[in-house]
Amino acid sequence: MSLTHLLAALPEPLFSAYEVEGVLGVGAYAIVYQIRSVETDEAFALKVVEKEPMRKRSMMPQLDREVALLSVPYSPHVIQLLEVLHTSSHVFLRFELCDTTVEDALNQSGPMSEEEAYSWFRQLCLGIQALHVHGVIHRDLKPSNFLLDGRGVLRICDFGWACHESDHLSGNCGTPQYSPPECIGRPSYVHTPKVDMYGLGACLQHMLLGRVPMGREDVPKGLSEETIELLHELMDPDPDLRPCIEDVLNRPQLANGIPFAEHFTNLWRNLSDFMDIPAPQKAARKKSMMETSCGFGQEKRGKIGNRNLVPRRDEVPSVST
Ligand SMILES: Nc1ncnc2c1ncn2[C@@H]1O[C@H](COP(=O)(O)OP(=O)(O)OP(=O)(O)O)[C@@H](O)[C@H]1O
Ligand SMILES: [Mg+2]
Repeated sequence: MSLTHLLAALPEPLFSAYEVEGVLGVGAYAIVYQIRSVETDEAFALKVVEKEPMRKRSMMPQLDREVALLSVPYSPHVIQLLEVLHTSSHVFLRFELCDTTVEDALNQSGPMSEEEAYSWFRQLCLGIQALHVHGVIHRDLKPSNFLLDGRGVLRICDFGWACHESDHLSGNCGTPQYSPPECIGRPSYVHTPKVDMYGLGACLQHMLLGRVPMGREDVPKGLSEETIELLHELMDPDPDLRPCIEDVLNRPQLANGIPFAEHFTNLWRNLSDFMDIPAPQKAARKKSMMETSCGFGQEKRGKIGNRNLVPRRDEVPSVST
């Protein structure tokens, strides 16, 4: 969609309230524009999805799920939808503006060291933990869906394939290079949060390689035993043998790097999530919660190449409910 067409399609109040400044990204089903508020001068991202192609592919339920699932404030590591507007032809989703994506940063700066990769991977896992606590499965984890803001905070975006575990969805979904066997050619296998655990493995692999991985065995030379083991476990073809997100967050290479302020954000969120969990699941959740919320460690920095994206401790965003 060209800028002229976008302006023609923009409904009120978007048309009068914002100026369109350019294109931020082009996805398979959407174009994301940078827009700026005429009144406050604040910039945002506007994801524009045309309904007709979605209707033709019977993907309207998917679009409705994306909007519904994005409307919940999960975590500082998951992008927050600020506004949604429907017209007969388009859906407009307004988000906070981020600086770049992990994919773009990798393309610019090349493969990451293990330490660097884990500093982003930990944030990614915290975002996934918040989604899984709410029963949400992302199903399309990949570096182009991880936004980075100017303060060094990673935010998971693009809920185009996301669903609730209770939807009991199956079939092909996501992006093949990051998708587990149950999402490629196993039409009756019901998806669980273990789909995302495989995706996390493929994303860690991508960060360490600096490019799209070509299969499970495609890892750079010289990786530590712990990382090789973690990748193997995450990308096990059998979903039941993959670790859950709490297990991964308890690994020493992740647990040791959680900054002090993030620990408290995490603890607070865990406690508030805990209140919503049905009684039978509380005991197990309590155990893992205590484990992931304890053990303050040395801060590992969020830094890509020469870009300093270290969050200042007083700037770690608070969780809104
Ligand atoms: N809030 C944002 N701030 C800055 N850039 C963004 C934002 N949201 C999205 N983008 C950019 O737009 C791209 C496409 O967005 P998104 O992944 O949501 O669209 P999509 O059509 O669902 O993508 P896909 O190709 O994965 O299906 C992102 O990879 C990113 O480069
Ligand atoms: Mg995307």
